[in-house]
Amino acid sequence: MAFPENFLWGAAASATQIEGAWDEDGKCPSIWDVAGKHIENGQDCHTACDHYHRYKEDVALMKELGLKSYRFSVNWCRIMPEKGKGNPKGLVFYRNLVAELRSAGIEPMVTLYHWDLPVWADKEGGWKNQKIVDWYLEYVQAVVEALSDQVHFWMTFNEPQVFIMSAYVLGNFAPFQHAIFSFKNCLRNMLLAHGKAVSLIRKIAKTPPKIGLAMASTNYIPDSEEEAGLRDAAEKSFTSQVGEGSNGMYMDPIALGKASKMLRRKLSAEDLRIISAPIDFIGVNVYQPANPLFKDTKYSAEGKPKSALNWVIDGRCLYWTIRQYYERYHLPILVTENGMANPDEVGPDGKVHDDMRETFLKDFISAMKRAVDEGIPVVGYQHWSILDNFEWCSAYGPRFGLIHVDYQTQKRTIKESARYYARIIATNGEDL
Ligand code: FCB
Repeated sequence: MAFPENFLWGAAASATQIEGAWDEDGKCPSIWDVAGKHIENGQDCHTACDHYHRYKEDVALMKELGLKSYRFSVNWCRIMPEKGKGNPKGLVFYRNLVAELRSAGIEPMVTLYHWDLPVWADKEGGWKNQKIVDWYLEYVQAVVEALSDQVHFWMTFNEPQVFIMSAYVLGNFAPFQHAIFSFKNCLRNMLLAHGKAVSLIRKIAKTPPKIGLAMASTNYIPDSEEEAGLRDAAEKSFTSQVGEGSNGMYMDPIALGKASKMLRRKLSAEDLRIISAPIDFIGVNVYQPANPLFKDTKYSAEGKPKSALNWVIDGRCLYWTIRQYYERYHLPILVTENGMANPDEVGPDGKVHDDMRETFLKDFISAMKRAVDEGIPVVGYQHWSILDNFEWCSAYGPRFGLIHVDYQTQKRTIKESARYYARIIATNGEDL
């Protein structure tokens, strides 16, 4: 079987990681704008790829590659720079971006929250404060009213695991807190915000919406494809302590209307009703398998290579994530992120020879094809990322882009892997 005819081959990015213009046109600071000492090499996201001013050039490059879709996020701080106060200029930027994408024939996919919490909201407790549900809905309403004539794909959240667990418990992502006793409150607030946003979007969108969210899906590859091996891996991925924390705790309430073990006392029947408002797809961000990793060696236990961030490169995790998610939740899957960091440089010939990323693409897209061949509804694949960008606390070291960015000059160079990806797109996945 081939990829479906309307398969959405695309790429992804997020506002904080590429836009820059951190204090322009009425925008307020986000928790990442003030992350200061937590960012490597004293760097910041204030200019990033300057996409805010260069979006036309960037969309032209996407068009050159033949992308069918582009997943980006709206920065809450541009839209609601003060509590209860909107900023029309912020909406204008995203309307222009969407218009540019549409005229290039590229389907825009909007993530409503990719971690850029306004500092004003953080000062009032951020995700710990139940009022955030209303603040978030007010923001979502402004965005949906402004963009939904042209935008059909909506993701309420990117990787809740990270902006709750890493940000409020482990303290290694903004706002860098160790608020372990607030963890369940944060999670409940996020789940309610998600469910209410789904119902709101469904109600006010000007064109029929497709709504989901993007999960940081860390799933296990089974040891064997016998029945027992499959069951064991699925259990580990969703209901074991690790699996519940990384997948089940979030998705079970959303897609099954059931609280996982940890949340049983936290979510009422009414909460679950709100949280489980029907969605249209599940987005999965897939980078590496959850199987035990051997961090100090160059290769994984099974001899698989690793990327510049030491992440194991094993395409099978994309197949298993898609399959396990589909078997548990029975919803179409959109691959919302998948990619690798590589020490890419522009060579003397003016090109970026990132062979490793070509191998990566072949490996992961072949694995995704297995899922498609087996009849699992996979709607699209958004490579992370369109541009090299600000990789959170690791700043500008890890280069994930299909397009190289020289941060001194902001010059963009299409990498050789992107040319390969363009061929995959042009042949709808035939030429792998
Ligand atoms: C994901 C994030 C994305 C990017 C990639 C590398 O966890 O959603 O913003 O940082 O990892």
